[in-house]
Amino acid sequence: GGQSEYNLRSPICCIMGHVDTGKTKLLDCIRGTNVQEGEAGGITQQIGATFFPAENIRQRTKELKADANLKVPGLLVIDTPGHESFTNLRSRGSGLCDIAILVVDIMHGLERQTIESLNLLKMRNTNFIIALNKVDRLYGWKACRNASIVKAMKQQSKEVQFEFRTRLTQVITEFKEQGINTELYYKNKDMGKDTFSIVPTSAISGEGIPDLLLLLVQWTAKTMVERLTYSNEVQCTVLEVKVVEGHGTTIDVILVNGVLHEGDQIVVCGMQGPIVTSIRALLTPDPMKELRVKGSYQHHKEIKAAQGIKINAQGLEHAIAGTSLYVVGPGDDVEDIKEAAMED
Ligand code: GTP
Ligand code: MG
Ligand code: NA
Repeated sequence: GGQSEYNLRSPICCIMGHVDTGKTKLLDCIRGTNVQEGEAGGITQQIGATFFPAENIRQRTKELKADANLKVPGLLVIDTPGHESFTNLRSRGSGLCDIAILVVDIMHGLERQTIESLNLLKMRNTNFIIALNKVDRLYGWKACRNASIVKAMKQQSKEVQFEFRTRLTQVITEFKEQGINTELYYKNKDMGKDTFSIVPTSAISGEGIPDLLLLLVQWTAKTMVERLTYSNEVQCTVLEVKVVEGHGTTIDVILVNGVLHEGDQIVVCGMQGPIVTSIRALLTPDPMKELRVKGSYQHHKEIKAAQGIKINAQGLEHAIAGTSLYVVGPGDDVEDIKEAAMED
């Protein structure tokens, strides 16, 4: 990640929701990538991570003419699977994030894993924004590529606007049944205090994407001092253990807080006991590229949170996904850390 004069870490935003509501497609739309079409069966089966530099986010929100200068290096976005069999991954993803986007298909309303995701967010008291996705599927929708939703909505016929309002009202009622107050974001005065904001979006034609990003920026600005000040203590979770051509066995991790360096001695939980090793290479995909998709990697001497990182080190074959990674600091006792690692 880049440097920030304020010395704040990048916030982590987790995308959650029912299967096929368009979580990955929304990210594709922001990244300009095509990850979703490469997925087996069009189903996400792993946690993903993408770093969005502050400058990219500023660019995408330009037309809203709001102050979107992020005082953090960027935003780390975590993609989660919506399929019912991946509750553990949704739980892991929601446990790492500072804020979430809960994606709802406007044609379907709240579905089973929407409610499951909602309950995870409630449990951890996580603030979230609702992306009411697939507005382009409203009958007769006129595409306004990457426009703000207010602008796009003005271009629609009376019939489209009527169908939109009917479906929106239905979704608001369904949230109410879950004990959650929601409102269209531009009508929502208290922004996520008691009433959660809904942003209508299309991952296909991009309407509402600037609005969604701007809300994330505004939330970041509001909460950064209390939430995003660096701690020197490393907080890091193993997502995947993978063999990568030319790199051997690697682990994909999310660095939530702190800094990792090449050469750091680390401890991770392994199937046959704690693994003590040292970081041979710290790799990230290019900015705006998905960590879980094979591609080229950037090498780093050190990386500050938050980031999705591929770590190359000896002896990682038996590392266990979902556990914490520990760094052995100068005054630390390796035996204590080994014990802590195995408690995960
Ligand atoms: P899982 O990760 O498997 O839970 O699914 P997901 O929520 O990531 O949804 P995904 O991005 O895989 O999209 C599911 C399907 O919906 C794909 O066929 C997408 O092309 C389509 N889709 C996603 N967003 C939109 C949208 O805004 N409009 C329309 N028309 N189709 C969409
Ligand atoms: Mg997906
Ligand atoms: Na899908």
